[in-house]
Amino acid sequence: MMAARQSSGAKQVTTMKTAAIQGGNSAVLEKEVPFQFSELFFSRTDAKGRILSGNSVFQKISQYSWDELINKPHNIIRHPDMPRAVFWLLWDTIKRGEPIGAYVKNRAKDGRYYWVFAIVTPIDDSYLSVRLKPSSPFFHIVEQEYRALLPAEEGRKLKPAESAKMLLGRIAELGFRDYTAFMSAALAQEITARDRELGRMPDAAIPQFEALGKAAQNLLKQAETISDGYAASRYIPLNLRVQAAQLGDAAATIGVISVNYSIIANEIKSLMDELVDSALKVSEAVNSGLFLFCVARLQKETVEFSHSEPSSGGTINGHEMELLEQQCRAYAGSAAEGLYTIAQRAERFHQACSEMQKLAAGLEVTRVMANIESARLSSTHSGLNALSASLAQFQASISSGLTQIASLSRFILGSTQRLIEVTEHRVHHAARQPAAALRKAS
Ligand SMILES: Cc1cc2nc3c(=O)[nH]c(=O)nc-3n(C[C@H](O)[C@H](O)[C@H](O)COP(=O)(O)O)c2cc1C
Repeated sequence: MMAARQSSGAKQVTTMKTAAIQGGNSAVLEKEVPFQFSELFFSRTDAKGRILSGNSVFQKISQYSWDELINKPHNIIRHPDMPRAVFWLLWDTIKRGEPIGAYVKNRAKDGRYYWVFAIVTPIDDSYLSVRLKPSSPFFHIVEQEYRALLPAEEGRKLKPAESAKMLLGRIAELGFRDYTAFMSAALAQEITARDRELGRMPDAAIPQFEALGKAAQNLLKQAETISDGYAASRYIPLNLRVQAAQLGDAAATIGVISVNYSIIANEIKSLMDELVDSALKVSEAVNSGLFLFCVARLQKETVEFSHSEPSSGGTINGHEMELLEQQCRAYAGSAAEGLYTIAQRAERFHQACSEMQKLAAGLEVTRVMANIESARLSSTHSGLNALSASLAQFQASISSGLTQIASLSRFILGSTQRLIEVTEHRVHHAARQPAAALRKAS
C-alpha cells in the first residue's frame, strides 16, 4: 500500500543518497545534529509526501538546500534505522484523515542523525507536520523498541503492515490499549520535558489530563472486572432453580425467586456490556482529548516560532502561515470539542452506573428473600445454603465494584469540568481567534 503511494522517484532518491553517504565517513553516521529545544520544525507535503514548504529550522537541520528539498519526497531525510512499521502507521492514519504523532529518526545530508517527535495532520489535499526535540524517558524506551523491531522486520522479511502489527503488540505490552493512547501519552511527556528544558512552568492542564486518563483506565478495568465476575456467577440462579425443582413444592418460592433473580441479572448483564463499552469510550475520549490539546498547543507555538524566524528563512509565505494558523484554530476547536466529548461520555457512564445500582438494589432484595427461604429449608437441604452464600458473594462484589466506579466517574466528571474551565480561555479563544490576532499574540 505504502509503495503504491510513493513515487518511483522517491526510492531512487533514497538509494542514491544512501550510496553517497555510505561512501563517506562512517563515523559521521554515529553523530547527532545538534539543535535547540526552542527550535520547532514545520513542513508541508502534497498527498504523495513531496515537500511543498518548510521553515528555516527544517531546512537548516537537514542541511539540504531548498532546491534539493522542494518537490522532493520526504524520505530524502529518511534514516535507515527507522522501522518501516512507523511510516506504514503514519500513512495509514493520515490517509484516513486522522492526525498522528510518532518518534522519527532522521538523517541529515552529511549522514548525521537527529530525532524528532513529529505530528502529522491532514489539511485540504496536503499534510502538515510540526516537530519538536524529544527528551522524555519515554523517548529512550521507544528508541529501544525501534532498535528491536528493525532486525525483526528485515530478518523475517515482514511486510510493513505485519511489522506495524508487531509494533502495536509491543505498545500493548507496554500498557497502552492502542496507538492513540500511546501517542497522546508520549506527546504529553515530550511537551512536559521540553517545558522543563526551556525552564518554563509546566503546563498545568497536562497532569490533569493524565490523572483523568488514569481514572478512565481504572474505570474500564473495574467495569471489566464486574463483567467478568458476572460471567463467572451466571449459573448460580440456574443451579438454585435446579435445587428448588428437586425439593418439589416445599421450595416453590425459591423457584420463583430465582426466576426473578435471573430476570434482573440478565438486565444487569446487558447494562454491564453498555457500562464496559461506555467506560471504553470515556477512556478513548480522554486519550484523544489529551492528544488534540497537545497538538493545538504545539501548533500554536510553531505559528509563534515561525513568525519570529528571519523572513528569509524557509519557504513560509503568507499562504503557508495562513494554513498553519488555520490548522492551529481547527485543532484548538477539536481540543475543545474533545473536552466536551469526555464530559458527555462521563455523564452517560454515570447514568449507566446509577441504573446499574438500582438494578443491583433490586437484586439484593431478591437475594435476601432467597436467603430467608433457604434458611427455612436449610435444616434439610444444605445445598441451598451454599448457593445462597455464593449469591451473597457475587452480590457483594457487584456492589463494591459499582461503588468504586461510581466514585471514579464522579471524579472524571468533576475533573473534566475543571479542565474545561482551566483550558477554556486557551483552547476556545485560540479556536475562534482570527489569523491576524494569533499573529499579534505572538
Ligand atoms: C507531512 C509529512 C512529514 C513527514 N516527515 C518525515 C520525516 O521527517 N522523516 C521521514 O523519514 N519521513 C517522513 N515522512 C514520511 C515519508 O513520506 C516516507 O513515508 C518515509 O520517509 C519512508 O519512506 P520509504 O517508504 O521510502 O521508506 C513524512 C510524511 C509526511 C506526509
